[in-house]
Parts: sequence; structure tokens; C-alpha cells
Amino acid sequence: MRIHVADHPLITQKLTVLRDERTDSPTFRRLVDELVTLLAYEATRGIRVTEVEVTTPVAKTKGVALSDPKPLVVPILRAGLGMLDGMIRMLPTAEIGFLGMVRNEETLEATTYADRLPHDLQGRQVYVLDPMLATGGSLEAAIELLLARGATDVTALCLIAAPEGLKRLQDTFGSRIDVAVMCAGLDEKLNEKGYIVPGLGDAGDRLYGSAE
Ligand code: PRP
Ligand code: URA
Repeated sequence: MRIHVADHPLITQKLTVLRDERTDSPTFRRLVDELVTLLAYEATRGIRVTEVEVTTPVAKTKGVALSDPKPLVVPILRAGLGMLDGMIRMLPTAEIGFLGMVRNEETLEATTYADRLPHDLQGRQVYVLDPMLATGGSLEAAIELLLARGATDVTALCLIAAPEGLKRLQDTFGSRIDVAVMCAGLDEKLNEKGYIVPGLGDAGDRLYGSAE
């Protein structure tokens, strides 16, 4: 499994404002959108393309088009939805599948409550969106499901990861070179409630308000 932590001052600056407890929801949503666009640049480095010919006003030359089947983008509801627009701005022809997952805040175990993905993902390249990688339970379950359906190349884009969550994914997918995690920041630890420290709090609530 490949892990990449972004190292860019613009990403760190936007993440800093995102973390700030005074940042309101409209600003939070805009920053998430901007951050995923920046992350997508690196996360799609291995996207499959096919050579095509293009005629400019001056000459014919070679270029590339995205290969078929087109990549599948999978936001994990709720918070992953905040990353969808930014991602498909970069990949407008991608297909989109939805996974609804929620973490039990007592046991910290993730359960899946919605699955609107193509059943057969044989050979598909998939980009999973979830801003927070805490215990890793949600992302582990999501990636297992995608691989079980035949996906052969899965990249997760996260805004903030905890070392505990990355270790869990490494333990599960360590031998797979076609699984990757890209994150904008790697934080210190989880607290006793399973929240990332320093983190940014509850990403879903900060994007959309409380679901309780
Ligand atoms: C949050 C977050 C991740 C998950 C991470 O979702 O968006 O999906 O927790 O935690 P984990 O790594 O310990 O599994 P939450 O369950 O709060 O649902 P929401 O997006 O609907 O708010
Ligand atoms: N989910 C969040 O939204 N934030 C955390 O810190 C951990 C899980």
C-alpha cells in the first residue's frame, strides 16, 4: 500500500483555516473543495490514459484521453460528499458511486447503510473520498468492499489522517501495490473518543450541521 502525505505550503495554509474552530460552514465547504482539487493533482498521477491524435490550428500532434472504463469516484457519506464537486471538476467524465457509512461513536465500529455502486467493478480504477481517517474502520470496510467487487486500483483521498488509521490500513492492505492513501495532513494521534488530535472536530457536522 502506498501512502502519500502532501507537503505543500498552500495545502497546509488551507488546512490551518479548516482546523480553526471559528471557521464557519460556508468557508469550511469552500476550503474542502479547494483542498480536494489540490490533492487530486497528485492522487491521479497514475490515472489510465490512452494516446489520441489531436489537430491544432497549426499541426497534428499526439495527446491523451482518459481510458475506458472511466474512473469511478466514491464519496463516503456524509462528509465525503463535501469532496465530490472538487474531485469531479478535475475528472468531469468520471462515474460516481455512493457509499453511506457511519461510525458508532461508542464502539467506533463502522457500518454501511447505503451502497449505490456498480455491482461489477472488474478492473476499475476507483477514487474514494473521505475527509477523516481516524481509526481507519470506515475506509478499511470501503476499500475491502471495492476490492471484493473487482476494483484493481483504489486510491483514497483524505484531508486528515491519524497514525492509528494508517497503521490499520497498512496491516490490512500492506501487500497490495494497487491501494494508495493520499492525505493533506498527518496528525498526532486519536483521543479517547476516537477523534483525531488536533484534527478539526467532526467533519460531517462542520460541513452540514449536526445529524443528531
Ligand atoms: C466520519 C468520517 C469518516 C469516519 C472516520 O464519519 O467522515 O467516514 O468518521 O472514522 P474512522 O476512521 O474511525 O472510521 P461519521 O461516522 O462521523 O459520519 P458522517 O460523515 O455522516 O458525519
Ligand atoms: N470523524 C470525524 O469527523 N472527525 C474525527 O476526528 C474522527 C472521525
